[in-house]
Amino acid sequence: MTRRIPEPYRIKMVEPIRQTTAAERETALNAAGWNPFLLDAADVYIDLLTDSGTGAMSDRQWAGLMLGDEAYAGGRNFHHLCETVEDLFGYAHTIPTHQGRGAEQILFPELVRRCGSARPVFVSNYHFDTTKAHVELAGARAVNLLCAEALDTGRAADWKGNIDLDALRRTLDEAGSDNVAALIMTVTCNSAGGQPVSMDNLRAAAALARSRGVPVVLDAARYAENAWFIKQRDPAYAEASLRDIVREMFAQADMFTMSAKKDALVNIGGICAIRDDAELARAVQVRGIALEGFVSYGGLAGRDLEAMAIGLREGLDDDYLRWRVAQVEYLGARLRDAGVPIQTPTGGHAVFVDAARLLPHIPAEQFPGHALACALYLEGGVRAVEIGSLLLGRDPATGVQEPSPFELLRLTIPRRVYTNDHMDYVADCLIAVKRRAATLHGLEFTDEPPLLRHFTARLRPVAPAQALAA
Ligand code: F0G
Repeated sequence: MTRRIPEPYRIKMVEPIRQTTAAERETALNAAGWNPFLLDAADVYIDLLTDSGTGAMSDRQWAGLMLGDEAYAGGRNFHHLCETVEDLFGYAHTIPTHQGRGAEQILFPELVRRCGSARPVFVSNYHFDTTKAHVELAGARAVNLLCAEALDTGRAADWKGNIDLDALRRTLDEAGSDNVAALIMTVTCNSAGGQPVSMDNLRAAAALARSRGVPVVLDAARYAENAWFIKQRDPAYAEASLRDIVREMFAQADMFTMSAKKDALVNIGGICAIRDDAELARAVQVRGIALEGFVSYGGLAGRDLEAMAIGLREGLDDDYLRWRVAQVEYLGARLRDAGVPIQTPTGGHAVFVDAARLLPHIPAEQFPGHALACALYLEGGVRAVEIGSLLLGRDPATGVQEPSPFELLRLTIPRRVYTNDHMDYVADCLIAVKRRAATLHGLEFTDEPPLLRHFTARLRPVAPAQALAA
């Protein structure tokens, strides 16, 4: 038996969490309109809603908070952040933002303006939902070109985050390079299951874009987990340091947006960085001043910038990443061994349960992933999130539900927060739900907001007779 990897840290502060009774959970879920987003966190025992901003900072990061320089302009923490970005990624221009979407909202309109087309496209392995929203707000269209093997959750493949290179070539040809605002490579690919992009795929996609004058953006929220997978899975990088791998990944792109709430291990923060185009950096900074804050703080306190500069390096620590990815794998293995269908192999930040396969009797328009999220909460107070039809929403022009390639439940694991005993508890709850899977019902709206509906929608279980008729 392989030896389990213990946490590479000691715990020096704890936050009590409280289990609820089944009756309390039923009351809470009803009050929340059967939408876990609307639950009070106090009614949640183990919170796997997201890995974003939910990680635990280290003692060094907490110490860094005390070194905050709260000058409005030119504070020392900003300089520390710029030096760190330059050192790790090789980019000359760093623009801090309040979080990832802050970086998207100041960069994308500038890329659209430069492109000059009336309605350009952004092409990506997969746009995260806020990324797609900011592409559309900038007047452009988001095209996802995820490789086909990612869709077959039962089949293991090393690089399910890859972009389909043939489809990319075709799309660039058909759209014409003047109509493509950027290629966005999301590492790891969140929506496909935290799946990594290979260095070869990144290099080839970037070369295709460059050959047509299309700028390359890295959506780098989970840069460190992606680098870890490259080191583990690509023999060419087995001996390389994570820092060298990261350097090479970022060398493929011209700019990056980063939600620092993931691999950079902070509770709030983001970065937009540009390699060497001073003119573009200047234009993005100006947008940033209007929307985020002055160029040297971008909507954050000086102390937040310090914690982020420290977290960017800690996120790349070998021992930490080995344990981190092993914990996700541990939960995945427990579920797979019990016959729960999951995206295989497990990714960097979450286990994605294939709800379409677990609940084949619930049609996509009754949201099997969301039904599973509700059942898991009722079972044991575990909060997870649907990634499927509910999240995808309707075509704004026709009002018709967009067909979703997946119906998934994401068990997203915060960094350095839970132990494997917590993972065992989550697995036990989900396995109990699997045993009564055939008795679960789909859901229907009682209140459906027109935009970003999954965050605030209210639903109710479909009555058994209707469920049978569906
Ligand atoms: N890009 C990716 C790949 C993301 O996963 C996220 C956020 C963002 C951009 C936006 O960053 O939240 O800091 O503004 N993902 C979170 C999640 C919310 O739950 O997956 P943000």
